[in-house]
Parts: sequence; structure tokens; C-alpha cells
Amino acid sequence: MDVYGPPRVALIGVHGYGQVHLDGLLRLAGAGAVRVAGLADPRPPAPESLARVRALPGGADVPVLAHAAELLERVRPDVTIVSTPIHTHLALARPALAAGSHLFVEKPPTASMAQFRALSAEVEAAGKVCQVGFQSFGSHALAHAARLVADGALGPLRGVGVHGAWVRERAYFARAAWAGRMEIDGEPVTDGALTNAFAHATASALRVAGVPADADVDVELQRYRVASPEGDDTASARLTVGGIPIVVAVSLCAAEHRMPVIVVHGEHGRLELEYTTDTLTGTLADGSPATAPAGRTVLLDNLVAHLGDPAVPLLAPLSSCAPFMHLLEAVRRDGPARHLPATAITEVDGRPVVRDADALVRRCAEQLALFSELNFPAPGSGKPLS
Ligand SMILES: NC(=O)c1ccc[n+]([C@@H]2O[C@H](COP(=O)([O-])OP(=O)(O)OC[C@H]3O[C@@H](n4cnc5c(N)ncnc54)[C@H](O)[C@@H]3O)[C@@H](O)[C@H]2O)c1
Repeated sequence: MDVYGPPRVALIGVHGYGQVHLDGLLRLAGAGAVRVAGLADPRPPAPESLARVRALPGGADVPVLAHAAELLERVRPDVTIVSTPIHTHLALARPALAAGSHLFVEKPPTASMAQFRALSAEVEAAGKVCQVGFQSFGSHALAHAARLVADGALGPLRGVGVHGAWVRERAYFARAAWAGRMEIDGEPVTDGALTNAFAHATASALRVAGVPADADVDVELQRYRVASPEGDDTASARLTVGGIPIVVAVSLCAAEHRMPVIVVHGEHGRLELEYTTDTLTGTLADGSPATAPAGRTVLLDNLVAHLGDPAVPLLAPLSSCAPFMHLLEAVRRDGPARHLPATAITEVDGRPVVRDADALVRRCAEQLALFSELNFPAPGSGKPLS
């Protein structure tokens, strides 16, 4: 790293979620904590975004290129943010490492376990660090919930349930060629409700449960699609680690949008963590109410702080994603999701909606049950559409 100034950070992928990274990068650059090394995207940045980069001290000279490899070779950044479609992460991380860069890779880090192992090995061989965009790992409420579980404040852990019911319009699946795809040209993409939209839910639940990076994770899956072209948009999964079940039940085809919740079931207490708002409620084994500190540490800020002082722990290192990757790999191997029977679906505002999706996913999280254990889809409701 350049010892004469703050780290130079490049951003690969400036639209979509890349806009959030660009905002974070400009905020840190404005505070003098980083310098913008360059941007790469085959689609040029919006004029107003470019104007904000150009307005930075030295911003007139920041390269903005279509090709990531060309940018990386030219500017050799200290840190590269990869915020591009899932199946491009590994291919873009490689030239960044070759250019001597640390990484910030969006979630899910890769499209398969084989790619995850390759990336882990290559990051280690390069002597670099890799932060992954599971932003809830910066949540103070999540860290507090994990501490309560580890300290036995709920009594022995019985299991963790997650319920999520969101509304995604058809446009969500049409927004990009990779949206809702399991593969493109024979290469894994592994996009779906479990592996992408609700990836934070599973990764956060695993972290609250204290599942270590090297744990054996057994995965059961029941994946369906209503609006998605291949991947699941309505699914239940049970990850079992050391006999403890972690159930994730989610749908992108709900009638109304609800906050997803991680429900921690202890023998003598219970927590509910709204991981998108960092809200923790519940009752501990001693009868006292659970409370948690507010706020979260932004992961890019944490990466920069870690590079400046290795005593600052990285909050979402690549290794911490290993338990989550067992779910992703099981989904990849499972292939395209099954269609739901027509009787399980209704239509709201011209959009297909899974009947009672919100109640269903809540019951799964409460009872640590898969869909079929709650008779969904209802027996005798006909063969799945296919
Ligand atoms: N952390 C979160 O909460 C969160 C939220 C949404 C998306 N994501 C993740 O962010 C990533 C990007 O998702 P998205 O919805 O923004 O995708 P997207 O399809 O909108 O693509 C983002 C940008 O990457 C660019 N791009 C594609 N290939 C590229 C390449 N080879 N080189 C340079 N740029 C390239 C595209 O032109 C686009 O501008 C995914 O991994 C997604 O899962 C994370």
C-alpha cells in the first residue's frame, strides 16, 4: 500500500448496487480516508455520478474505463470493490489480486463452492484480505445477539428460524440477464431468494448461532418458483449444524412487504432480530428484556480501518462466509426450482402471489419446519406446474 497517503480504491460495477458503493467511496474520499483510484463498467457512470468524482481533489484525473482488467493494470489500486453480477466476481477478483489489491466483493461472494475455495486460496496466496458485502455483519445488534447466544443468556440453543416475505415485481426478474438464473452458458450463477435476496438472512442467522467457518453443515431444501425464470423465489431450507436446526423460509411473491426477522429459540429465552433495521427484541432466560446497541459499522470503512491497523478486526472476511456457502452449493446442485401448483398461487395487481406466504414463512420460523412439514403445498393440490 502507498505509505504516503490513504488507500486508493477502485470500483468495478458502478450501477445497480454499485451506486451504494460509489456513494460510500465518495463519502470516504470526501473525508480524506481514501482516494478514488478509478471506476470500471461497460456502462459509463451516470453524468451526475461522474460529476461528483470529478469534483474531488484530483478527481479530474480519475480513470473511468469500460474494462476492469485494463483499469486494474493501469492504476494498481490498494483496494478493489467488485459489485458486479454474481458469476463475474471470481473472474474480476483475479486481476485485482494480480494487481496487488485487497478486495471487497459483493455477496454472495461466488456462484459455487469450488469458486469460493479457489478465491479463498488465491486471496491467501496473495497475502491480501477480502471483505464480503454482508452488511449486517457490521450491525451492533447482530453482534450483541450473537454474544447473548454464546453466553447462554437464552439457555441452550434450540434452533434459529428466519422468515422473510417480500414483494418483487416482474421487473425485478427482468432487470438483468442473470436475474433468477441458475446458469448462463453452462457457468453457475446461482441467483435466487435463498442465495441472493435473503442471503443476508441466512448468513446472519448462522453468525448469531455462532456457527464456525469449518463446521459441517447439513442442508435440506424445498425450492419453488412462481415468477423467477429458474432460481427459487419461494423456498424453505433447514441447515443443521451439530444437531441445531437453522430454518430459513422466504418468499419474494408475498401479497405485502414485511421486515424479515431472525427468531432465536433458546430453551429459556427468545430473541427476534430485524436484521435490516438492527432492531433486537425478546426475553432472556432471567426474564429481562433483550436490548441492543443501535447502529452499524459500514463494511468499507471497516476494511479501510483494518488496513490502517490490523488490530481492527475485519467484520465480514471471506472465511466467515464458509457456512453460508454450504447453502449456496446445495442450491446450485439442486438446479432449477420447481413450479408451485396453481392452487397455491393467486394474483394481486397483475402479479403472481403465493397464498398466505407471510403466515407460512412465519410458521416455518416458529416451528423450525420445512414447507412440507406444514402441508405446503397442500396435499392433493395437483402436480406442480412445469
Ligand atoms: N449487499 C447488498 O445488500 C446487495 C444488494 C443488491 C445487490 N447486491 C450484490 O451486488 C452485486 C451486483 O448486483 P446488481 O444488482 O447491482 O447487478 P447489475 O446487473 O445491476 O450489475 C451491476 C453493474 O456491474 C456492471 N458489470 C457487469 N459486468 C461487469 C464487468 N465484467 N466489469 C465491470 N462491470 C460490470 C454492470 O454494467 C452494472 O453496471 C451482486 O453480487 C448482488 O448480489 C448486494
